[in-house]
Amino acid sequence: MNTSSKLGGKAAIVTGASKGIGAAIATQLAADGASVVVNYASDRAGADRVVSAITAAGGKAVTVQADLSKKADIGRLFDEAVKAFGRLDILVNNAGVYEFAPIEDVTEEHFHRQFNINVLGLLLATRQAAARFGPEGGSVINIGSIAGTSAPPAASVYSGTKAAVNAITRSLAQELGPRKIRVNAVNPGMVITEGVVSSGIGESDFRKQIESQTPLGRIGQPEDVAALVAFLASGEASWITGETHHISGGYR
Ligand SMILES: NC(=O)c1ccc[n+]([C@@H]2O[C@H](COP(=O)([O-])OP(=O)(O)OC[C@H]3O[C@@H](n4cnc5c(N)ncnc54)[C@H](OP(=O)(O)O)[C@@H]3O)[C@@H](O)[C@H]2O)c1
Repeated sequence: MNTSSKLGGKAAIVTGASKGIGAAIATQLAADGASVVVNYASDRAGADRVVSAITAAGGKAVTVQADLSKKADIGRLFDEAVKAFGRLDILVNNAGVYEFAPIEDVTEEHFHRQFNINVLGLLLATRQAAARFGPEGGSVINIGSIAGTSAPPAASVYSGTKAAVNAITRSLAQELGPRKIRVNAVNPGMVITEGVVSSGIGESDFRKQIESQTPLGRIGQPEDVAALVAFLASGEASWITGETHHISGGYR
């Protein structure tokens, strides 16, 4: 086992890693030496591509299907992860959905779909991780969103889920700190991913508006976010917990 690299000897789970930001995070953690569980919900081919790229580059990764809105699936995901790599050190709660709707279109389904994955799934996954990290602790990284604080119009439910992620991060960091478990939130601005493209906002006026207000003048790439997550997962961040890290080219 390679323990000389930044994350050598560590094992990680990245939820929602078949595409987008999660795929870039899984790839980065593996490049830094971690063994990685690439979780997916429906896109098995995407998850297989991520694992193939990691193994072709000399890294270690496996796919595990699990729907993060289902408690039983979450338990199985962690069982399979520990079975594959014998330990767990890093959890990246990335799986998430975003749906935009003005208040007149907000329904119970719209609410529960987003809260069940973005908030409840994150909590239940963190519960599993906290029970399985070893005596040296671990690192949990929650992918929030700039929407948690910028709270744009027609995004009340999504923004609510991501504000909840930041509050949960702060609370769990205090609760789990004595067990050497660090919990941080990463809040990206708009990042060009499969999800953003298919939702239509990738080429929208909303994107142009954001870019015009972004000091660094562009939206993000998944790799921009992955680099920060890999840092937070590593020993270089060993005194950082409970923080919300904005990564948005300066956009608020
Ligand atoms: N892109 C942005 O601009 C942006 C900005 C700020 C924050 N974020 C956050 O970053 C995260 C990733 O966003 P993205 O744009 O990369 O998303 P994406 O391209 O839509 O990909 C979503 C990923 O999440 C997985 N997923 C969805 N529902 C799931 C479930 N129930 N259980 C397990 N996995 C599930 C998908 O798996 P399958 O494809 O296998 O179903 C896929 O791997 C989300 O939490 C999002 O809120 C995104």
